[in-house]
Amino acid sequence: MNYEKCNEVVTRDSKVYPEFARIPYYPLAIKEGRGAIIEDMDGNKYIDMLSSASSLNTGHCHPRIIKAIEKQINSFISYTAAYTYSEPLVALGEELCKITPGNYEKRVVFGLSGSDANDGMIKMVRAYTNRTKIVSFIGSYHGSTYGSMSLSAISLNMRRKIGPLLSDIIHIKYPHCYRCSFEKDEVNCNLECLNDFRDSLNTYLPPEEIAAIVMEPIAGDAGLIVPPHRYVKELYKICKENGILFVSEEVQQGFGRTGSWFCIEHFGVEPDIVVMGKSMASGVPLSAIVARKEITDSLGPPAHLFTMSGNALSCAASLETINVIRDEGLLARSTELGNYAKKRFEELKEKYEIIGDVRGKGLSIGVDLVKNRKTKEGNKDAAAKICYRCWQKGVIVIFLASGVLRIQPPLVISKEELDKAIDVIEESIIEYMSGEISDSVLAVAKGW
Ligand SMILES: Cc1ncc(COP(=O)(O)O)c(C=O)c1O
Repeated sequence: MNYEKCNEVVTRDSKVYPEFARIPYYPLAIKEGRGAIIEDMDGNKYIDMLSSASSLNTGHCHPRIIKAIEKQINSFISYTAAYTYSEPLVALGEELCKITPGNYEKRVVFGLSGSDANDGMIKMVRAYTNRTKIVSFIGSYHGSTYGSMSLSAISLNMRRKIGPLLSDIIHIKYPHCYRCSFEKDEVNCNLECLNDFRDSLNTYLPPEEIAAIVMEPIAGDAGLIVPPHRYVKELYKICKENGILFVSEEVQQGFGRTGSWFCIEHFGVEPDIVVMGKSMASGVPLSAIVARKEITDSLGPPAHLFTMSGNALSCAASLETINVIRDEGLLARSTELGNYAKKRFEELKEKYEIIGDVRGKGLSIGVDLVKNRKTKEGNKDAAAKICYRCWQKGVIVIFLASGVLRIQPPLVISKEELDKAIDVIEESIIEYMSGEISDSVLAVAKGW
């Protein structure tokens, strides 16, 4: 493969773009994308198993979404919703109220990134409850603004040298059954991890001071961890018993990724707030906070707005994204292809010791690579080498946490493309195990 043009972009990039703004895996510079296929600057083609970090659920350049964007551009691109009104914003707000879980009167606040949506959410939960403390989870990534970074607990470099961050954010352990801290399994588990949290509420963390618990219903960047159904139910119950708001953070798992509009729907609880972003406008910047009306009523104007919030272009793209997901049955497709992919990875797990766990919902799947099945110690080097080899072989996949392959292709991926990508992942695993991938890769594919 020739990477001349890609390498040239990478060299120029190093002179303008700071290292701290990227998590490196391989020198991919994109020229174009269609569906689940990316072409780089040198004409090399790849199957996309990452969907731009789960922000292209409808795939690259969906013709209907391009058409909707073109139509909007030809009338007006943006006029600030801070001072004026726009029909696309209203229409999208109406749609989002319909598709988000929660049978109550809602309001929708727009932004441009998952990060800013989390900041807006923090303002709302504090204002509404008149409480300051917020509980989130260790390992979580909620964004790069001060508020969302304060909620996050994934990387020391994100917190070094920049403090103080927001105070009164409490981080608890995400329920991770594969690496259960209490060494329980499904049969003998009594939700000891949740009892740990209950202990906190009885000893040093007054529940009446907690404004909200912010939970990703699948912990994305923490390693695609699926919590037990009853954990979410019980945590929700604790919230309701103590006047604590339950926030479903759906920036990564929302908009069809897991086979439902929002991942929390799998758990049968009704969140007070849903935070979303990434895929909602198929790559055009847009985020939203959908909340109970009484929660949004607790802030006065102009408590949370950006000049470009809910701009007409993003809203038009998002409305058509919703139509495409509906018309092409992408929720059912995510479930169907997700079950199929999981089955294939389970088969690989039977064959290769290095795969310790396969988990996920719909097309949001984590393949956990381990050094040893007994200790379950993550195998980050293996993950880095395998992802790099996949890139060389024409498949875009990255790893998270201590060595979890992130499998999140566009929901429009064909079964043939999915099969081919999994075949390439298998080949790369085999080549890793036979020592064919050099250590020099580790200097490039650094990951998180
Ligand atoms: C769960 C989650 N929340 C928030 C964010 C931040 O979103 P953005 O990068 O659009 O600010 C991300 C991004 O990776 C995410 O995965």
